[in-house]
Amino acid sequence: MIVDADLRVPGDKSITHRALILAGMARGTSRIAGALTSFDARSTARVLRQLGADVSPLAAGRDIIVGGRGRFRRPATTLHCGNSGTSARLLLGLLAAHRFTATLTGDPSLRRRPMRRVTDPLARMGARFTSKNPDGLPLMVRGGKLTPLQYELPVSSAQLKSALLLAGVAGGVEVEVREPAGRSRDHTERMLRFFGYDIEDDGEWIRFAPTGRIAPVAFEVPGDASSAAFLIGAALLAEGGQLRLRGVGLNPTRTGFLRVLARMGATVTVEEFHEAFGEPVGDVSVAPAHLHATEVAPGEIPGLIDEIPLLSVLASRATGTTVFREVGELRVKESDRLGLLASNLRAVGARAESRGNTLTVEGGAAAPAGRVITAGDHRIAMAFAVLGTLPGARIRVDNPECAGVSYPGFHESLRALRAVGRRRA
Ligand code: S3P
Repeated sequence: MIVDADLRVPGDKSITHRALILAGMARGTSRIAGALTSFDARSTARVLRQLGADVSPLAAGRDIIVGGRGRFRRPATTLHCGNSGTSARLLLGLLAAHRFTATLTGDPSLRRRPMRRVTDPLARMGARFTSKNPDGLPLMVRGGKLTPLQYELPVSSAQLKSALLLAGVAGGVEVEVREPAGRSRDHTERMLRFFGYDIEDDGEWIRFAPTGRIAPVAFEVPGDASSAAFLIGAALLAEGGQLRLRGVGLNPTRTGFLRVLARMGATVTVEEFHEAFGEPVGDVSVAPAHLHATEVAPGEIPGLIDEIPLLSVLASRATGTTVFREVGELRVKESDRLGLLASNLRAVGARAESRGNTLTVEGGAAAPAGRVITAGDHRIAMAFAVLGTLPGARIRVDNPECAGVSYPGFHESLRALRAVGRRRA
């Protein structure tokens, strides 16, 4: 196909969760523009309402108005986080500092995901947790007065880091955290600074010092770089033309995939680069390219953790063998992404293997064909839909609608690229 499109992607998922949560905690009315309205964002909004915040309905193109009370109220019923790990983990941090009992649960995928990485350090701060599941939801949290924490995270995880920083915010205590190899996304740190908090970062330790209360804000969410990645991938696989995406969040802790794509031979240009609400934003342009294989090193993984599905389908079209090292975290995402990526790539005719914590993908040129099992994982669905845009591709994705977890309208956006291509071709 030939691409010739000028689009916007929906609001950033990570930033939307954080903006909703901080606004829900602030005393007063906040206004959030450009927010994501996907299933995951709705989960956070729903749980915040159960905790006493007023959150206006999430509708694309409409600002969200959030009325917070400064503290959460004891919820009357179980807090259901749907498919959203970010909702569950960040909210656990806040609930740890509230003197009431709440029960959290999620869909079968979320109930399978590890929570002890969050509850262990929060228990050290003084919160209590009970669960029949040794390392997951559903679980009951009884919050209370917290003590300060200095903690080295066992994994680079923005959800874990954010849960602990937010426990510091809600509990009014100092929190110092350090991540192992590679920095995870720093949206919480940036947003807390934007909300007027004191966050120090010496490149190793991140320190939160409690200073006052959260005030309500007006905030605008940039486009989601992780959603943009799928359209950029489709444009790279096309046969001609150009794609421009406006207002994409370009936080360097999220754009590791662009650095890898550059190594693979892609030219992605950024214009109108500026900072808005504490986050770098710009317009991204990309044209089709002949891709070649690369090695993705362990330290790069946190900066592109959500883009490995897309990068691995692109690797299946690149010249040579691409290796992703230390990607074991993919086993505990919305699905066992590591296993599913390898098996689905093989199912559509590519050569791929996951062994230990390494994913290896060999490039090829045959038209991909076969059935893709998503296990409800939105990023698997979108990555293989991108592969399905290749000439002659015959890919059947079992649950394409699950893209709506993070990207409502994804299939329409993808068609918008293709439709122009068909007219021009
Ligand atoms: C997220 C952090 C990452 C990422 C997820 C969103 C966040 O998870 O995979 O999609 O918003 O903090 P981990 O913190 O578990 O790596």
